Amino acid sequence: MTLKLVIIGGGSSYTPEIIEGIIDRYDQFPVREIALVDIEKGKEKLQIIAGLATRMVQKANKPIVITSTLERRRALRGANFVTSQIRVGGLKAREKDERIPLSYGALGQETNGAGGIFKALRTIPVLLEISKDMQELCPDAWLINFTNPAGMVTEALLKYGKHKRIIGVCNIPFNMRTGVAEILQCNVEDIEIEFVGLNHFVFGRRVLVKGVDRTATVVERLKDPTNQYAPANIVSEGWSSTFLSAFMMLPNPYHSYYFKGADMLEKNLKAYWENGTRAEVVQQVEAELFKKYENKDLEEKPTELEQRGGAFYSDAACNVMTSIYNNTGDVQTVNVQNNGTISDLPDEVVIETNALIGASGPRPISIGALPLSIRGIIQLMKNVEELVIEAAIKGDRERLYQALLINPLVREEALAHDLMEDLLEAHKEDLPQFYQQA
Ligand code: G6P
Repeated sequence: MTLKLVIIGGGSSYTPEIIEGIIDRYDQFPVREIALVDIEKGKEKLQIIAGLATRMVQKANKPIVITSTLERRRALRGANFVTSQIRVGGLKAREKDERIPLSYGALGQETNGAGGIFKALRTIPVLLEISKDMQELCPDAWLINFTNPAGMVTEALLKYGKHKRIIGVCNIPFNMRTGVAEILQCNVEDIEIEFVGLNHFVFGRRVLVKGVDRTATVVERLKDPTNQYAPANIVSEGWSSTFLSAFMMLPNPYHSYYFKGADMLEKNLKAYWENGTRAEVVQQVEAELFKKYENKDLEEKPTELEQRGGAFYSDAACNVMTSIYNNTGDVQTVNVQNNGTISDLPDEVVIETNALIGASGPRPISIGALPLSIRGIIQLMKNVEELVIEAAIKGDRERLYQALLINPLVREEALAHDLMEDLLEAHKEDLPQFYQQA
């Protein structure tokens, strides 16, 4: 079998990372063709990335053919694996997701609060089209989705799409594991973290090192704020002793938006006044990266890519694909349908959890009941996500309002209304489902 990988959103500045991941795993995962796909607007970037990717495989001396196209359906034919890393509306849309909530004194973030909700509304219908094409053109292929908000997007596809070979991945659990290895000064391969929760709302319930429970030690060391595992996009100053001792679990960096909201809002506003939104900062980083990528002498992923919060996401994606291909059955952290894994959540929702990854896909490891300390907040966050997905599919304003209203980063009746109206208007072009004639 000739292995073919299709990268949807191939013109993304992150693509060199996944190319590097494929090159590094070539012996176990011999991909022979990588088709980079993008849309008309991303044509120029796509060409630059295709050039760099070609130089990278040549330098590594691997027989991988790089192709690039704007015709998604043509690329999907014969694919074994498809990855998705798209941003509907581009970074300009993200700018609005971040700026509009901040203008109301609310946290606006790429995947959290009103910003994250609107990103989901724009993205879900587009990903459903992609999964529909896959069902028709490459029904046996696996879609590895890291298009954000990855948990909600994966859930929408599994609930509403026919193509079921879908797995969501994120770099947060991956970063937490490498961060814990550093904190404990041991090999990352020896560490297992029992992850419980949702994408960007996951907790590390237990840390095992070669099977020995080291949770208490890690929690203790996290009390020193220099011990961190936050990605580049989150300014984190760690957690209080009281918080850590009470939960006896590892928080993920995104929990700061919920449990240190006032502090995060102050920091985000300050950063906004000084440098603009994170989306604006990222646009500058991207412009510099693309200047580098264009350089014909560049034959590898530049380290500057690590200034992006999503750095190392491709390790998570490549590990999943390699394990499916080799039927490895090793444990990885993925976004999959619950189906009883967590007894306190409905079967059809998507959770972020540890699973055995093999040829038939992920087999989640049972969790049972959620710890009492986090049961309510996880059910609430999942409730928000379910409402958002319905709103995205049906263009349903009531569902959208309900989602904003119960979201802990919005919560106020008037604020939910104002944010809804402003963001709907700002993203009108990318939200046709809300503007269809009855
Ligand atoms: C984190 C998240 C990713 C997200 C990224 C944003 O790492 O896990 O899902 O895409 O940050 O980073 P950026 O550099 O775009 O702000």
